[in-house]
This record gives sequence, C-alpha cells and structure tokens, in this order.
Amino acid sequence: MRLFFGLSLPDAIRDACAALAERCRERIPGRYALNANYHITLAFLGDVEPARVDEAADVLAACVRAWPAPRVTLGELSYFHRPENAVLVLRARAVPELEPLNEALRRALDARGLPADRGPFAPHITLARHARIAPGTMETIAPARGAFSCPAAHLFLSARDEAGVLRYAPLSCACFDKCCQESCKSTKTAE
Ligand code: 2AM
Repeated sequence: MRLFFGLSLPDAIRDACAALAERCRERIPGRYALNANYHITLAFLGDVEPARVDEAADVLAACVRAWPAPRVTLGELSYFHRPENAVLVLRARAVPELEPLNEALRRALDARGLPADRGPFAPHITLARHARIAPGTMETIAPARGAFSCPAAHLFLSARDEAGVLRYAPLSCACFDKCCQESCKSTKTAE
C-alpha cells in the first residue's frame, strides 16, 4: 500500500487553491490535480505491507501528539524541477515550521524500520504535474491567500479508484497537542 503522512485542507482553502489552479490553467498547460487531492505532505512512506499500516499510524500519532498544532499560511506560486516539465505548487508556510516535524517523523519511521523518502522537504500543495511554464508567466497570475490551523494530521493511502483515478484516502487521524488539550478533551469529557 502506497502511504504518506499529510495535512488535509479546510474547504475554504481547498476552494482558494482550486481558484488559483483555474487561473493557472489559462496560462500553464499541465496535468492538474483533483481538488479533492490537495494536501500538504509531511512524509512519504511509499510502499508499506498492509500488516504494517497500524504501525505507521502509531508513528504519526506519537509524533503529532508531542507537536503544537501548526498554523499554515498559503505562500507563493512556485514549481519544482524544470519549467518545461514541472510540478506546479503553492508553497505553504507554517508556524511552528513543518521541517522539524518532517525530521521527527522520518527518524521515528527509521527507528521502526519503515523508512520514508529522504528527498529535500519543502511544504507545498501540488496543483499540477507535467506543467509547461513559459518565462514570465508565473508573475502574471494572482496568488491565493489564506491561512488555517491544523488540528490533526492523517495517514493517507494513495490508490487508484475503479476508474483508474488516483485518490488519497485518509486511513487514520492524529491530533496535534493543542487540539488534544482543547477540542478532543472537551469532546471526550462530553461523551
Ligand atoms: P506532493 O504532491 O505533495 O509532492 C502521494 O504519492 C503523494 O506523496 C504525492 O502526491 C506526493 O505529494 C507525495 N510524495 C512525496 N514524496 C514522494 C515521492 N518520492 N514519490 C511519490 N510521491 C511522493
């Protein structure tokens, strides 16, 4: 099973990303992502045996429990790789920063024998792949604005549906420290 840890987006932020993608589509050809798939990857595990999915969920829960809930602000439109065949992304800035969380997740995964991808980590929302970006185009596109708090992170399954469309489905939900002090505790008390 192809797995990754990530942050899901509130509807208003998803809509802002979709509107930005529409503006990009007019000027940048490429294979645009499904709006429902917008997310911020925290760590990419790749192929994991189904029997180890619970272990992966435990790693996420343990790390995230000890982490303050991040507040994410949408950043600039940007891209990875070459402009002729790029991954078009919206950068994400967070307080506290997500890089140390990525490090902590990778260390915890390593310790469990579930190694994550070691590539450089730059928090982002992928808008399109195989994008062809002509010089000077990016500057002409109005950016997306918005900020949101993340109460939880998810273990996602990346799989194709019956129609062959790639979809990311949350398998588990792990609350950040702040959430557990506030909403989760009050929910539990109310039960
Ligand atoms: P991204 O779009 O945020 O980069 C599921 O495959 C998701 O995991 C991808 O959409 C991608 O998210 C992320 N991912 C991170 N590292 C990856 C890697 N080395 N290979 C494939 N996907 C990766």
